[in-house]
Amino acid sequence: MTRTIKLADGKSIPALQWGNGSGGLNGKHDPALEYGITALKAGVKAIDTAELYKTEVATGEAIKQVGAKKADIWVTTKTHPDYCSAVPPTPEAVRANVQDRLSKLGFKPDLLLIHNPFVIEGLKIAQFWTALEDLVLDGTLEGVSLGVSNFRPQDLEAVLSVARIKPVVNQLEYHPYVLTHLQPVLDIQAKHGIVTEAFGPLTPILRHPTGGPIKPILERIAERLSKETGKKVDTAAVLLLWTVGKGVVAVTTSTKENNIKKIVQVDNELPDLTKEEIDEIESAGRKIHFRYYAEHMSKDFPAPNLPEDL
Ligand SMILES: NC(=O)c1ccc[n+]([C@@H]2O[C@H](COP(=O)([O-])OP(=O)(O)OC[C@H]3O[C@@H](n4cnc5c(N)ncnc54)[C@H](OP(=O)(O)O)[C@@H]3O)[C@@H](O)[C@H]2O)c1
Repeated sequence: MTRTIKLADGKSIPALQWGNGSGGLNGKHDPALEYGITALKAGVKAIDTAELYKTEVATGEAIKQVGAKKADIWVTTKTHPDYCSAVPPTPEAVRANVQDRLSKLGFKPDLLLIHNPFVIEGLKIAQFWTALEDLVLDGTLEGVSLGVSNFRPQDLEAVLSVARIKPVVNQLEYHPYVLTHLQPVLDIQAKHGIVTEAFGPLTPILRHPTGGPIKPILERIAERLSKETGKKVDTAAVLLLWTVGKGVVAVTTSTKENNIKKIVQVDNELPDLTKEEIDEIESAGRKIHFRYYAEHMSKDFPAPNLPEDL
């Protein structure tokens, strides 16, 4: 079974995804190709790439080389307004940028995101959105879902105030330790049916100095699942199950075959967490604030007055 999440435009997006923008893959064609092939062979059904990562060609190549049907693999890419040829980007420059995405991938992505709202001075992010919508409406991006990434409340409001097509997702650093900060964003998204995609979902166990208050809870649940399933379930798997249990798409990655297989195992072989477990992780996580990708979401969106650890 591949877990999916329904988007507002009716598509079903794979809930567990493998990205080639971190873990040493960002900007590197050959490793992104090699590990993309490993991931697809292991059973990964969705790849997250971006103009910024310079891994779109590798993404298309990996799908071709394993002989997968494009229709069976979900691909998300991201356009970066700063890279448009005109400053600030004109509709023609946005069109040229998007056509470059299609030609680098070798096909239309399933989902195209604006990577970041922090764009060239003078550009209104809403104008960029309008230019993308025009490309959907004139058929250039027919069938492609549109979304955003790293959008704060004010960025979402700016786009929603002009949107003829609402963004279907906002891709954010998302895990229990940023939930309190993200609440205003999540409230807007709930109102408009915008699904959250989590990047950095493993931050609490990988990047927080101690693991913080959710660590013992994750360990206890990992032990329960290991006993009940007879498989070795780690705390990374529990965090990914928590993420999808929240109705959020988990965008993780690995360049270790064993860990890549575990991502697929989470999807295909492990049961959902109970509601009580999901709530317990959430309420412990909300008590602290710890963000790894500090360059995102921090400007003009004050962090809550919470400790980084308890
Ligand atoms: N929109 C944005 O601005 C943005 C920003 C950042 C990232 N992203 C996207 O999100 C993707 C994932 O981001 P992320 O790297 O921050 O995600 P993450 O899931 O928090 O961390 C991924 C790291 O977890 C490790 N890992 C995987 N499985 C593990 C396991 N079972 N046990 C222990 N460690 C494990 C991997 O290392 P090993 O290789 O050692 O397994 C990998 O480097 C990126 O590749 C990119 O596509 C988007």
